[in-house]
Formats: sequence, C-alpha cells, structure tokens
Amino acid sequence: MTVTEKLSKWYEKNARNLPWRVKGKAHPNPYEVWISEIMLQQTTVKTVLPYFKRFLERFPTITDLAKAPIEDVLLLWQGLGYYTRARKLHECAQVVMNKHNGHFPSDRKELMKLPGIGSYTSAAIASFGFNLPEAVVDGNVIRVLTRLKGWEAPVATIMDQINAFAEELTQASSCPADHASAMMDLGAGICTPRSPLCTFCPLHYDCIAYKTGETESIPNISKLKKEIKKGYVFWIENNCAQVLIRKRTEKGLLSGLTELPWNTDESFPFPADWHMTRKTVKHIFTHFDLTLTIVKTQVDSLPEGFDGFFTAPENFKNYPFSTLMQKVIKKVINEKK
Ligand code: ADE
Repeated sequence: MTVTEKLSKWYEKNARNLPWRVKGKAHPNPYEVWISEIMLQQTTVKTVLPYFKRFLERFPTITDLAKAPIEDVLLLWQGLGYYTRARKLHECAQVVMNKHNGHFPSDRKELMKLPGIGSYTSAAIASFGFNLPEAVVDGNVIRVLTRLKGWEAPVATIMDQINAFAEELTQASSCPADHASAMMDLGAGICTPRSPLCTFCPLHYDCIAYKTGETESIPNISKLKKEIKKGYVFWIENNCAQVLIRKRTEKGLLSGLTELPWNTDESFPFPADWHMTRKTVKHIFTHFDLTLTIVKTQVDSLPEGFDGFFTAPENFKNYPFSTLMQKVIKKVINEKK
C-alpha cells in the first residue's frame, strides 16, 4: 500500500468530526469552508468551534455577511484576535457578491485575488470546497511531511521541496478533500510536536524520523527571538463612574476595535492625579509580548480634543474590545466587586 492509501484507510476510522467538514466529497458550501479556514488561522480548533457556530447563525450566507455592518462582524470576532482577518473577511464577502455573483471561484489564481485569501487559504478552499487536487500545507502538515522524509534542514529553506512532496501525495489520492483532512488530523492527533504517538501512526513504517529517532528535532523551526514591550493602560473615570473608551483608528493589528487609552512609551496622556496600580495584564502577540500596567485616575473633564468618550462599564458589551482590553476590564471590575 502507498502512503496515500494507508492514510486514507486510517482516516476512514479516525477522522475528526468537525462542523466545517464533509467526508468523501466536496463541501456543498465553500462559504463555510472559507469562514472556518480564516478562523483557524492562528487559532486552535477547540477555540474556533463556538465562534464558527455563532458566526453561521448570525451570517448563514455570504449575502448576510456582505450586507452586515463591519461592527457586527467585529463583535462576533471579539476574542478570536488578529482582527485584520475579520475586516478582510467582510471585504472579501462584498467582492464575491459583486464580482462572482455570491459564489466562490474554484480556481486558485482567482481565489488568490480576493481580500485575505493567500496561497494557503486558496488551496484549502479549492480542496475542501471543490475537492480539487490542491495540496493544503499548514503547520501540522509540514510536521508530518518533514518527519516522513527525515528532512532536517530549516523548514523555511525547504518549502519548495515540502510543497512538491505534498502535491505528490495529493495527486495520488482518490478524494483530495479527505486526503487534506487526513493529513491535518494525523498532524493534530498523532504526529504531534512533542511526544508523537508513533506506534499508533499508520505511516510509521514509512517514516524516516521515526526510524532514526529524530521526531523531536524535526521539523527544524528556528525561532526568532521575540521583542518584549511594556506600557500603561489608563482607566479614566468621570464623576458619574463612566469610563473613557475610544475607537482605535491607527492602522494595524487592532484597528477599528474599541480600547481604553494605552501606550508603550510609559508616558501619561495629560496632567492628572494618576494612580499606578500593581495590576498588570500580559498579552502575547505574534511578534512581541506586551505587559501593560493599569493606571487609574478620576477627572471632572477632559482636555480639549482628547480622543474618546465616557460610557458606563455595563455598556462595554456593545463594543468590540480586543482580548487584551477584555483582560484589563476584567481585572479592574473584579477588583471592585
Ligand atoms: N486547521 C486549518 N484548517 C483546518 C481544518 N479544515 N480542519 C482542522 N484543522 C484545521
């Protein structure tokens, strides 16, 4: 039996039952495949499950998503992080409505012209949504492939080889969508980063890393050292116990979300009786780790032109706060109880 056949047999018995997945054929609704794939970028399956369900209840079709206000999309995305994904998702829904009559194209080149859809996501939509033989290569799959081949070189330097091997296995499969799911499931459940369960792996006879005892050092992912940033986040109350919040307009990671004022230069936004608390909030972003110290004050009025508005904390649920800001709010509010 070939590697692809062994994997297919294993998948028949061991497939995960996931709400965005259909076994043995293309998913009837590429819209759902697309939503799941965007959510699953940088987020675990377990975290995505409830978000996926709520999202499809609120936006059952691409038409519903395209015509919704972006604020509604961000609100449902709240806590998933990487909010650029949500904005691009919304933009993409509108382009698919306007340029493709509300139907995703199946061609990878066409898919890649859409907002937020790159090489990986286009392959995933073509594979899961249309059952086309496109290789779907994410972190889990890279681990399976490099271990099978015993490739010790840094992953970034051998991506062409990895993609070629992925394509070879995909071309040999009778159901590309199932093959792609099977590779992911093997990577997620058996061929895990630490202590892989090689004796349960249907491919261990074919696996060079298993034979040479190198599963712990393959794949070779040399990590970049992360920057550590520090700053202040400001809890500014007025004399009606309302708190100052603002909409973030700066471009980048958290653009469009609501926040408490904060900075990373450890300066105060205006002269006031600032009280440094001993409470800090930590958050891990892709390229840096951030620690914010909570600083409080009470003011009668704000300096002219200071950005933001006062609202009672009971109303915070109506605003899309990032996970970082939700942590800050939770810390301050719990302390008050
Ligand atoms: N990670 C990314 N895409 C996935 C999928 N379709 N199923 C499971 N995990 C995934």
